[in-house]
Amino acid sequence: VQTAIGVAHSKLILIGEHAVVHGQPAISLPFPLVGVEAIAEYVPGSVKIDSTFYHGPIESVPESLSGLTTCVEATLDHLDLPHQDLLIRIKSSIPPGKGLGSSASVAVAVIRSLFAYAEEDYLIEDILHLADISERHAHGEPSGIDTLTITSELPIWYQKEEPTDLIEPQGDFHFIVADSGRMGDTRLAVESVTKLVKSAPRRIQAKLERIGEITHRARTALETASKHLLGQLLNEAQKELEALGVSDAGLNRLIYFARQEGALGAKLTGAGNGGCVIALAQNEMHSKQLCEKLKKFGAHAVWSFALKKNTD
Ligand code: MEV
Repeated sequence: VQTAIGVAHSKLILIGEHAVVHGQPAISLPFPLVGVEAIAEYVPGSVKIDSTFYHGPIESVPESLSGLTTCVEATLDHLDLPHQDLLIRIKSSIPPGKGLGSSASVAVAVIRSLFAYAEEDYLIEDILHLADISERHAHGEPSGIDTLTITSELPIWYQKEEPTDLIEPQGDFHFIVADSGRMGDTRLAVESVTKLVKSAPRRIQAKLERIGEITHRARTALETASKHLLGQLLNEAQKELEALGVSDAGLNRLIYFARQEGALGAKLTGAGNGGCVIALAQNEMHSKQLCEKLKKFGAHAVWSFALKKNTD
């Protein structure tokens, strides 16, 4: 075909980030309020990218996008497409570097657009494999949870080397996501925790295991509609993340404010040290009020978002 579209939503880690890199479980949520659209189009010449951050030939992308080059090249090879006569336009509403899985979303949308361009059906395994090429480039040693969540329509229970499980919440949970305004660096944050594990294996492993236990209890809270318990567990996880050194003043400021304004729990989401926080509101009305208050308090962007019991 001459033009083909691929889309992808973003993701939120509800609980278990960082510990998931070291073998503990995590719970993540597809976040449909922001996403990426990629359009692959026949344009004679070399393969080019057109995005907010870069416009030009794919082999000259800045270092920050080099994962995308590898991923596009691997996808073209996979599809037996020539490395020429192609323009890939990328439009994203996901703020990059904010823990919302922007890089994985871009990769998944681009891969989907190339499969559509080649008129090939895909297996989810193909998408995951190709997107992971880009993710490893961007983030070093990611756990793989971002790409999985971006290709899922339902909340995920994820543990490395284990089959992925879907979670069905048994109640309505109203969350707020607030952007601290500062960009984080997933690779650096993941490396900093790995360094801690190496320097004090027993003490840090105990913390990671503690996050694992909290995550197990959070799953039960979701599956038994226990909002107050879930809130408490989000707070407990935040305490451990702070001790791991991945929260910063900007995140803490939003987290403490949200709690002070009645959030049942609040923590950072994603790699931290910049990026976003996730807070659990008491109900729908409270979630709207909290959104307004967080905006006035200086959050760069705020989204309210509900996880609902499936009634189909
Ligand atoms: C990033 O969304 C979550 C981290 O746990 C890294 C990863 O799992 O790849 C910080």
